Amino acid sequence: MRPTIAPFPATRLRRPRRSEPLRRLVRQNTLCVDDLIWPIFLCEGKDHREAVASMPGVMRQSVDLAVQAARRARDLGIPVICLFPSTDPSLKTEDCAEAWNPDNLSNLATRAIKDAVPDIAVMTDVALDPYNANGHDGIVRDGVIVNDESVEALVKMALAQAAAGSDILGPSDMMDGRISAMRNALEAKGYQDTLILSYAAKYASAFYGPFRDAVGASGALKGDKKTYQMDPGNSDEALRLIERDLSEGADMVMVKPGLAYLDICHRVKSTFGVPTFAYQVSGEYAMIRAAADNGWIDGQKVMLESLLAFKRAGCDGILTYFAPEVAEILNDA
Ligand code: PBG
Repeated sequence: MRPTIAPFPATRLRRPRRSEPLRRLVRQNTLCVDDLIWPIFLCEGKDHREAVASMPGVMRQSVDLAVQAARRARDLGIPVICLFPSTDPSLKTEDCAEAWNPDNLSNLATRAIKDAVPDIAVMTDVALDPYNANGHDGIVRDGVIVNDESVEALVKMALAQAAAGSDILGPSDMMDGRISAMRNALEAKGYQDTLILSYAAKYASAFYGPFRDAVGASGALKGDKKTYQMDPGNSDEALRLIERDLSEGADMVMVKPGLAYLDICHRVKSTFGVPTFAYQVSGEYAMIRAAADNGWIDGQKVMLESLLAFKRAGCDGILTYFAPEVAEILNDA
């Protein structure tokens, strides 16, 4: 039961807002460097970086530069770096075989980072879209994204990532049954300590546009992802998906996109009380960055406020392209 509030003037709710020390004292949520997961984009080459036009300030980088980025992240105190490969179009096929090549770009980068910077955790993405000629997260047969065959491919991909040394697998594909299939395979092959952070409640969102440019999937994608990603009109379904993925062996869960889905973050955390993450996706980054670069908003303040909102909603951490910038600000503060 809430205590009854004494009537004004005994209660003046402005009193604790009077000064910064008082505000700090009563602040319920804070953002810290430990909350950040930094997604980076990979490309072929050596000492090579390419700008992502729709994400100013974000680069695709070759493996050697990704290792430097991992070092920077470690030095800033960021606990996890998350890898997304931009695959050469010639390697994209209908069977997506490059996805489980032990030496694909993502696996090469994982090995190089774990070798050079062992004290940062590496997260990798489990979905077929970077390798699929159709740009879809699953295998396409006669225009249909087939579930069970996709899960078999995703398991091979997950095992290759675990073998490369990935600490956290992030299945972002939204197929049914993939978590238990991956968990069983990981246990059977001796990867019992590999974590799964399931993108359990992932919506079919227009906020992913700049990401698809970054990984070169925009041109490839035929149609949309509505038969596997969630309908933005639904919320109960998110809880069913989270519950299902937890019951199949996910260690942590994610809601995606972020800011437009804070109600889902809050429901997930309050219902299940498990490690809950949100992805501040590419479109969210692009909007804040564009407005900031135009001088329409204070970029730094909006960035921090947007990330704090995830903490308030109940998230334990956030994947954000702002991670290094935010870490620098927080470390200086
Ligand atoms: C692919 C994947 C996507 C994102 C992460 N993994 C795009 C999609 O589902 O089309 C989006 C991330 C972002 O927009 O920043 N499975």
